Amino acid sequence: MADIGPCYFVIFGATGNLARRKLLPALYQLEAADQLHADLRFIAFARRDWQAQAWREHLGAVLREQLAADFRDEIFARFADRFDFVQGDLREPEAYRRLMDELSKPRPGVCENIVFYLAIAPAEFPEVIEQLSRIGISRAHGRHRIVVEKPFGQDIESARALNAGLHRHFDEDQIFRIDHYLGKETVQNLLVFRFANTLIEPIWNRNYIDHVQITLAEPEGVGSRAGYYDGAGALRDMLQNHLMQLLTFVAMEPPAILDADALRDEKVKVLRSIRPIPPDAVDSHAYRAQYASGQVGGKALAAYLAEPGVAARSTTETFVAAKFYIDNWRWRSVPFFLRTGKRLAESYALIAIRFRHPPQLLFHEAGAAHIDPNWILLSMQPMECMHIDLHAKEPGLGMNTRIVRLNASYRQAPSTTMEAYKTLLLDVIEGDRSLFLRFDEVEWAWRVVDPILRHWSRSRDYIATYPAGSWGPREAARLFERDDQYWRNEI
Ligand code: BG6
Repeated sequence: MADIGPCYFVIFGATGNLARRKLLPALYQLEAADQLHADLRFIAFARRDWQAQAWREHLGAVLREQLAADFRDEIFARFADRFDFVQGDLREPEAYRRLMDELSKPRPGVCENIVFYLAIAPAEFPEVIEQLSRIGISRAHGRHRIVVEKPFGQDIESARALNAGLHRHFDEDQIFRIDHYLGKETVQNLLVFRFANTLIEPIWNRNYIDHVQITLAEPEGVGSRAGYYDGAGALRDMLQNHLMQLLTFVAMEPPAILDADALRDEKVKVLRSIRPIPPDAVDSHAYRAQYASGQVGGKALAAYLAEPGVAARSTTETFVAAKFYIDNWRWRSVPFFLRTGKRLAESYALIAIRFRHPPQLLFHEAGAAHIDPNWILLSMQPMECMHIDLHAKEPGLGMNTRIVRLNASYRQAPSTTMEAYKTLLLDVIEGDRSLFLRFDEVEWAWRVVDPILRHWSRSRDYIATYPAGSWGPREAARLFERDDQYWRNEI
């Protein structure tokens, strides 16, 4: 597939949140970097009753807002010229016929290589897949690609049903299950850090590591996405996919070769080794909460329940923290603490590896009252960086220690989330599936979180809250096993 670039790239949900925040800016940046083939055209498919000109104005407004100083009129003109607009409801067969007409415009018959990007609510995936096959777009007619956003299903059963639906019409090598965290530099760098440094590998295990914590904190609230989010919640939106993927990258064994399937095999082995949480232990392994009103820098922030589109008495979680154990030789008894939330204090994404205390507190008697253990910190937000915290002697009299930081950052500029999409969209266009999920990864990740989902679904009448703009509920600390463990809220 790699040698025949697609002729069309169809975006379902072109006026939606994902397209606005991530897809359109990333595609524009690929245009700016001359990465798009001259013949590639885009079709924006959306419900709004627009003509081409209204779409073009919308596209310009979105890109100006998202790209700010990076916006260039001449690149925009080139980029916007690639677009056609198809108006239609996803459930309306007539809309797909209009799409078909558009696809066959440049030459008679539809070209055999089209990317269909489903930037729509997951509940609408099955409908679109069926409608596409009804108009003759499926494996039988060409090598089209279909890109499916997470969450892939609502739970393990619906994920299997969605997968079966996809496979009725498309082959596995046409299906791109996207998790944009796999396109982030830090995630890819984690593999290099672990497997290209012989210094690291011998200590990367239960003998030296006390625990691992992974945080994905966002200051934004649910915004205009309540229609999807209120039925999903933080566990499905972030933990089952992004956090689980990060966990597998931290925990996996080195693959025999750096090939897509070898990597996925190792990730699946990790997911299969995660100890299932028994139904009566969910409360000691997972904690959920929802943001109440609050403020940041004097600015009042509304409660989740007051956001547009959220059900009046919703108990959907906007924060989740959970603890998992991986029962294998490398990780047995090392807890992995994961947490994520909306309307938290800062934009902050960090993988923090905490090492054990030294076996003997030698410097205690010499004056050091307390020695913090070593940490390795791999940060994605607010900037991409890599730090190792070590102890050194404080210069001068006495035997006091202080933390010195080895800065192994390979980039100083702030990272942008568009970069992840840029990498992955280029892979879709070029037909490279290495950074996309295989179904067994998705399935095993659901198996890990399903006990939590089931338990929570039985108690939907109450949810704890945390003030918007805070670091989340204090009770999230109850997952820790000892007093010296704590959530790290700074790099
Ligand atoms: C998406 C979630 O997958 O990831 C959003 O659906 C979340 O709720 C986003 O805001 C976070 O991505 P990033 O790259 O901004 O950390």
